[in-house]
Amino acid sequence: MKKKIAVIEGDGIGPEVTQQSIRVLNAIAEQFGHEFNYTYCLMGADAIDKTGNPLPDETIEICLNSDAILFGAIGHPKYDNDPAAKVRPEQGLLKLRKSLQLYANIRPVTTFPSLIHKSPLRAELIDGADFMCIRELTGGMYFGRPQGRAEDGNTAYDTCIYTREEVERILHLAYKYAGQRNKKVTIVDKANVLATSRLWRQIGQEIAPQYPEIETEFMFVDNAAMRIIQWPKSFDVLVTENLFGDILTDEASVITGSLGMLPSASVGIHTSVFEPIHGSYPQAAGKNIANPLATILSAALMFEYAFGMMEEGALIREAVAASMDVNVVTEDIANNGKAYSTSEVGEWIVNYISK
Ligand code: IPM
Ligand code: MN
Repeated sequence: MKKKIAVIEGDGIGPEVTQQSIRVLNAIAEQFGHEFNYTYCLMGADAIDKTGNPLPDETIEICLNSDAILFGAIGHPKYDNDPAAKVRPEQGLLKLRKSLQLYANIRPVTTFPSLIHKSPLRAELIDGADFMCIRELTGGMYFGRPQGRAEDGNTAYDTCIYTREEVERILHLAYKYAGQRNKKVTIVDKANVLATSRLWRQIGQEIAPQYPEIETEFMFVDNAAMRIIQWPKSFDVLVTENLFGDILTDEASVITGSLGMLPSASVGIHTSVFEPIHGSYPQAAGKNIANPLATILSAALMFEYAFGMMEEGALIREAVAASMDVNVVTEDIANNGKAYSTSEVGEWIVNYISK
């Protein structure tokens, strides 16, 4: 099959991890007789430096005309420490999500037997944990307006807004995935305090009876934060609003053993974006030490979700698991032994796929 893939390497460790993913894609193409055409485009701090715009129109254009988008990371400390900056790298990613209407961010959380010991959580709590976080991605506080600062500079405000349509479509998606998995949906909100959460809960109560074969559970977000750590195996599909989902999925990555392990798929009505959930990790940028596995696993999600190529996705997963079994891993998950570089891990996985 022929596919057009837009590649946004982005900032920090984005380029070096994305490059490993591209090598993996090429190895898969070779093995299975596919042809992938890559178009590189700009977003984030890199785009601001080169064009003044965190998401140039050309990037949106290329993404809309591609079959899938592979994205590395975004962000730069010079903006993080400058609250007054008018243009910020993250605006690029938010605008991409909005422009492509990527309303759902899917973050599967699984454990890897060879990494159980790397989690600060007790092995028996996490062994076998396997759930999917579905984060609403184009609504809530990230996009609600007004947002800003009062004239005196001493008062600031964000607005959390959700419409029925936004809540319904993400909940239906959660039920769809739960139907293919272990048939349980946990709807996470803060309905005891927030009006938007009460809308979520009301719509959840309306929709649940349409899926009698699926168990529905409602949970407050503070409680969910505790349960993810205390009893991760109780979840199957967890669905929540944008900001809660951002926070809970970083937390959930602890179960896998490293933030460098969690891939994600952002899906909507146009082209989907595949990206690791870790950020730009500026301290490691250019050092060839960052874990490329979240990005490589994002490529696996690309095959499965965007192209429906399950065998290709499965081979990538097998190769990733095999690399961990023989401890060809980066320092974040190395077990007192030798740590391999980003490109060495990529190389090992490519060789496994090509053998
Ligand atoms: C993520 C990231 C982004 C978010 C940032 C970089 C804007 O943390 O994808 O989880 O908050 O959505
Ligand atoms: Mn995040």
